[in-house]
Amino acid sequence: MAVPFVQDWDLVQTLGEGAYGEVRLLVNRQTEEAVAVKVIDTSQAKECADTVKKEVCIHKILNHPNIVRFFGHRKEGPTVYLFLEYCTGGELFDRIEPDVGMAEKDAHRFFQQLLAAVEYLHCLGITHRDIKPENILLDDKDNLKLTDFGLATMFRFKGRERLLNRLCGTLPYVAPELLSQTEYRAQPADLWACGIVLTAMLAGELPWDQPTESCQEYSDWLQKKTYLPPWKKIQPLPLSLLSKLLLSSPDARITVADVQKDRWFTQGSLSSRGNKVLRPEPISRSSSDDRMQVSSSQPDLAAGSWEAMLVFGQTEGQVSFSQPAKPEHMLLGSQLLGTPGASQSLWQRLVRRMTRFFTNANADASLSSLKDACDGLALGFKLSCTKQVTVSTLDKRNNKLIFKVHLLEMDQRVLLDFRLSKGDGLEFKRLFVKIKQKLGDIVSTQRIVLPVT
Ligand code: ADE
Repeated sequence: MAVPFVQDWDLVQTLGEGAYGEVRLLVNRQTEEAVAVKVIDTSQAKECADTVKKEVCIHKILNHPNIVRFFGHRKEGPTVYLFLEYCTGGELFDRIEPDVGMAEKDAHRFFQQLLAAVEYLHCLGITHRDIKPENILLDDKDNLKLTDFGLATMFRFKGRERLLNRLCGTLPYVAPELLSQTEYRAQPADLWACGIVLTAMLAGELPWDQPTESCQEYSDWLQKKTYLPPWKKIQPLPLSLLSKLLLSSPDARITVADVQKDRWFTQGSLSSRGNKVLRPEPISRSSSDDRMQVSSSQPDLAAGSWEAMLVFGQTEGQVSFSQPAKPEHMLLGSQLLGTPGASQSLWQRLVRRMTRFFTNANADASLSSLKDACDGLALGFKLSCTKQVTVSTLDKRNNKLIFKVHLLEMDQRVLLDFRLSKGDGLEFKRLFVKIKQKLGDIVSTQRIVLPVT
């Protein structure tokens, strides 16, 4: 069954973790094609298996340049694997500088692409219900890709809209009507979340913990106190759009069609890369299963190749993965720099993440400096093994914030790789910056050229 030239897929590294399980990067040894695989353990709860079925059902029909492509799925006992387009640019929240945001022209372009994805979903009668920077990825050309359809659902079928009642999403991004009413309309709630994402991109902070009047920041917004942060950091034109997106009444809130007429949104000359809004390709499906036609961004992958990504075991249909690559195998970086060839560009294009740095001290010294920095910031510090630390604290809103720091020894240097396990991504980055400052003396100023861990 396996096709020889595409059979060796290495499970390279973990790209992200969530309540569901984790997303890993798979790279083909021969062709060097990369895909993301979301590994979901459904053994915990019956609802989990149903949720994944729904996620697959929805994600497989989507075909839009601003939505992560779904290539297929496999079930192996209680584990479900979802094969997804690999987005080399990482998460949108890695482009947001805490308390600052990003250049307005970049936010403008990302927002246009986010709106294109949302417009497409809503046209199909689908709502995402968990729009936030952690669910927004970027490809190698910095095109935005919406992902994670675990909470998505149909809100319109055969032209008839239904109201939703499930309270879901992520509190700072949730629209106020979800917390104050039993039923809500899908489209205004997604647009509200887009408004919170736009605020995060333009100001580097989330405006409130949750949109209830007991929350001071939210009641300040209702009273139009735009002289306060985050609003005071935002220019009048985008702020005017935000005041229409973040209207507390869902019926008064701006629609996708009206966002497309907004002055800031239509402003043409901002983006250095151009604001071309990508149009979806026509849907073309293989008849036998849920594989989609492969996008033009991955031209060499015929749909049938995805089948061969999986190495079949003795029993027909039983799936196993080839051996993971050794870390050394992946850490080719420095000697490849300046060497022309396909692998150089592949490795360089692979994982880009901002929450890591090299030290010029050895592993023991790095670990003890990290401990001192965490103690100085009153953070919980737990050594899980010699190479991994779990750091835990409460953020300024009293929400749990947990992240892991992996220490990787490479040549004479040590890579400290920080990954969020639980909590708000922006708070995580704020803390990362503080720790990095405290470790200033041993942080290596040499550029990181090795893209994967
Ligand atoms: N993290 C989660 N999903 C991902 C994907 N499809 N590509 C890259 N990183 C991811």
